[in-house]
Amino acid sequence: MIQLGVNIDHVATVRQARGTRFPEVVAAAHAAVLGGADLITMHLREDRRHIQDRDLALVSEGIHVPINMEMAATDEMVAIACDLKPAHVCIVPEKREELTTEGGLDVRAHRDAVVAAIDKLRAAHVPVSLFVDPSEDSLLAANEVGADAVELHTGRYAAAKSPTQQMHEFQALRRAAISAHELGLRVHAGHGLDTFNVSRVAALPEIEELNIGFAIVGRALFIGLTAAVREMRDLILRARDIAVRPEDL
Ligand code: PXP
Repeated sequence: MIQLGVNIDHVATVRQARGTRFPEVVAAAHAAVLGGADLITMHLREDRRHIQDRDLALVSEGIHVPINMEMAATDEMVAIACDLKPAHVCIVPEKREELTTEGGLDVRAHRDAVVAAIDKLRAAHVPVSLFVDPSEDSLLAANEVGADAVELHTGRYAAAKSPTQQMHEFQALRRAAISAHELGLRVHAGHGLDTFNVSRVAALPEIEELNIGFAIVGRALFIGLTAAVREMRDLILRARDIAVRPEDL
């Protein structure tokens, strides 16, 4: 089974541009659920540049699908997550100057903070996924610190400039998905996925969850959010159903 987490941060980005209450993030979450979102994904950044605490509270009260909360491994975020109890948390690296999450988490470099976050979240019964680059060492490190899942960073695959480069990045994702699964980690993936590049990744049988935001919210400007989610979901489910090798997609 594969699930689609719809990341609605960019709806908040539009709202924050004016500092108003419109467009309301919880309304976007409703529209995404109508289109078939299995999860709502929200990144509460330390600088609160898009999603606000109020958005998380409203979505967790008003929406019946699970929340995937993306966050940095800080005491503040861990406390919020332990209180809110989302379906799971995805720990991401955060740099204030970046436009979006630029690389995977360096688990070894941040081991103490990650272990402390996992311990507290586990005590609150919140499973933890780590957003990592698709490399063998990242997966071993994620396993060592006791993560429940990894979210494989698909950014390099999505940004590849040629078919050869894209296939090279895809093979790295494929190897990582298999290794993570063999280690007993659940496998998620996301970043930069769109209607053109999602199928191959969705066809990898180890992947249980894809988190997609920018492409869906951008497409929603033209066809509406519910239709944009439905379109992405149909592509993902079709890719998973087709019994061909993912590299042929
Ligand atoms: N997964 C993680 C961990 C992310 O940080 C992001 C971006 O917020 C996404 C998925 C979604 O990426 P995109 O908006 O490019 O689809």
